Amino acid sequence: MTNSNASLLMCPPAYFDVQYVINPWMEGNIGKVVRSRARKQWDALVRILSDRSEVRIVDPIAGQPDMCFAANAGLKLENLFVPSLFRVPQRVPEVPVYTEWIRAQGIEVRDIPDDCTFEGEGDALFQPGRDILWAGYGVRSSLASHKFLTEFFRCPVYSLRLVDERFYHLDTCFVPLPQDRVMVYPAAFDRRSRDLIREHFEPSRRIEVGDGDAQRFCCNAVRVGNTLVANHVSDALRRKLEDWDLEVVTTDLSEFILAGGAAKCLCMLLDQDAVVPLSERKAVESPISSERLELTGHLLDSGLLNRAMDAVTAAGGSFRVEQFRAGLRHDQTSLCRLRASAPDRGALNRVLKELQGHGAVVVASTKEASRQAAPADGVAPEGFYSTTIYPTDVYIGGRWIRAEKQRMDAVLVIDGGAGSVRCELLRNLRAGDAVVCGVEGIAVHTPETARTEEAFAFMSAGVSSERRVERVVEELALEMKRIRSRGGRLVVVAGPVVIHTGGGQYLAEMIRNGYVQALLTGNALPTHDIELNMFGTSLGVDMKRGTGVPLGHQYHLRAINRIRAAGSIAAAVEQGLVTGGVMYECIRRGVEFVAVGSIRDDGPLPETMMDLCRGQAACAGAIEGADMILMLSSMLHSIGVGNMTPSGVRLICVDINPAVVTKLADRGSVESTGIVTDVGLFLNLLAHYLSEDADDEKYEAAVAAKRLRTQPAPE
Ligand code: ARG
Repeated sequence: MTNSNASLLMCPPAYFDVQYVINPWMEGNIGKVVRSRARKQWDALVRILSDRSEVRIVDPIAGQPDMCFAANAGLKLENLFVPSLFRVPQRVPEVPVYTEWIRAQGIEVRDIPDDCTFEGEGDALFQPGRDILWAGYGVRSSLASHKFLTEFFRCPVYSLRLVDERFYHLDTCFVPLPQDRVMVYPAAFDRRSRDLIREHFEPSRRIEVGDGDAQRFCCNAVRVGNTLVANHVSDALRRKLEDWDLEVVTTDLSEFILAGGAAKCLCMLLDQDAVVPLSERKAVESPISSERLELTGHLLDSGLLNRAMDAVTAAGGSFRVEQFRAGLRHDQTSLCRLRASAPDRGALNRVLKELQGHGAVVVASTKEASRQAAPADGVAPEGFYSTTIYPTDVYIGGRWIRAEKQRMDAVLVIDGGAGSVRCELLRNLRAGDAVVCGVEGIAVHTPETARTEEAFAFMSAGVSSERRVERVVEELALEMKRIRSRGGRLVVVAGPVVIHTGGGQYLAEMIRNGYVQALLTGNALPTHDIELNMFGTSLGVDMKRGTGVPLGHQYHLRAINRIRAAGSIAAAVEQGLVTGGVMYECIRRGVEFVAVGSIRDDGPLPETMMDLCRGQAACAGAIEGADMILMLSSMLHSIGVGNMTPSGVRLICVDINPAVVTKLADRGSVESTGIVTDVGLFLNLLAHYLSEDADDEKYEAAVAAKRLRTQPAPE
């Protein structure tokens, strides 16, 4: 028989019962406990344990059916006891009874601040023979409590996040064992925690148990000396544990499992081994980091708050709302101040980055934005902040500076002794450029009503009735007329499908009538547009009859060849080789066009840029100052242009493929409208509405109607 100096505190199940549900095991078990059977099982456990240790008893009190689960009353090491702060209110009254018992033994009691939750040994297990504490959070105990455990016990605390409600306490899925070993049920933890455990315990020091053992509470094992006592251990698992020189004793605790507890839950360890006595330990700093954040906007109706909170928990963090002011009317915004915590600074930074994407501002971050020099041309420092499409302010030299040339997937560069900040592409960085790093001192302004616009809902419905398309196009035409009349800038991004579907003539008409200020495209649209003008075909298909013509597949090459011979599209127009169509109108009206090619291109036409970096820069230049960008059936060019477009520019994306439309419109911005339809028909319709005389009254009515629709619709 193994002997030890172990001492355990237990509480007889005199009032044990299932009277409420605070964990999944209790569901359906209310009133099912047979107390006499529970008592027999408990007595048997006490017999096994008292053969190997001293068992001390706390008297239970009536009305506390879970009080026999002594492990949850607090955590004791040497002469220091930290009482629990139950998350579940039902069990709160147990704590003072245990605490008084402990105090009566002359043990010092130290409280955790009451904005934390902490469920004692259920969520905090010392590694035998090592001065480290494993602590669970995520279901019952809060991450913040771990910070205090670190300070009180002056030892490293490893925070493990529990993600399966069935394994709601660390002692249901994790058993630290002597000689730096562990028995663990990995599926109970999030990925970071699993990695942490696996990093700490190499395979030879780690037993990972399967679902069957775990669900029968094999990990809820109490250890006295070299003996492990549990409700159940499979033969295979028993052999592994015996190989580690452990004696395994099983005893039926099925009545307690009705309440979600077993052997370990029923015991509090009064004698935990400490290597360095508490009095001799030096202070240890907790890696847990937290930051205050502020979110404003339509937090409730847009679902923004949900997303933000999910982002925190998904990254292994936790949050506490410190202030909330709800917008009470549809047009009012809400304000939420919260404190987000994560197990370490790196994890917190990931959380903050994600939250910034949702528009949160790190409040404490009136700290200066941190910056680092780019280590080489075209290379950013490792910790660089990567941009979004939204207006972004950076806190430098005691003031907020708005970033220029806002676009996504760029870095922020501080210029001229902190006088200005600009978005810059990685490849354009110069060694030594001051690049904004981290998350502090950065405020991203996301639009208020992101994702709530009617157009978006219409688009995400996937199928749109023709009548609805018509209405959207009608409104679009009015918007375009407005832009034209105030001398605004409309940019069209278009692919060859525009020509193949017969939309070329309408696009040409729009250009002729001054609606288009720049055309961004590839090699194919100009090619087929010119082919159509020269041969009446688009990729060999007769556009009048809609059928292929013999040898038609060569026509586009012949068209390209003639343009190459002329030297440029402009020269070809000059020489009368091209007499109409999209490109003809561009040249005639001096409309800027940018053609950026790709690997599939034939020719290319003389104007087509085959240097992608140059092409991207040309597109970025062309969309500067744009009020609206109309994206017509071109996936890659549209996405490329979308990426360089700041929020605030109206984006209209038309494609027959809903996936392309979603991709573009799903920028979380109010300004994007997706239209799933045939682009040829769309252009036909648009040209029709554009050709009607501008009618201001009608326009104003449409705008008013639009405003009306943003209010909740009476069903
Ligand atoms: N019904 C109790 C509860 O949910 C069971 C506690 C089990 N204790 C433990 N250390 N896992 O709180």
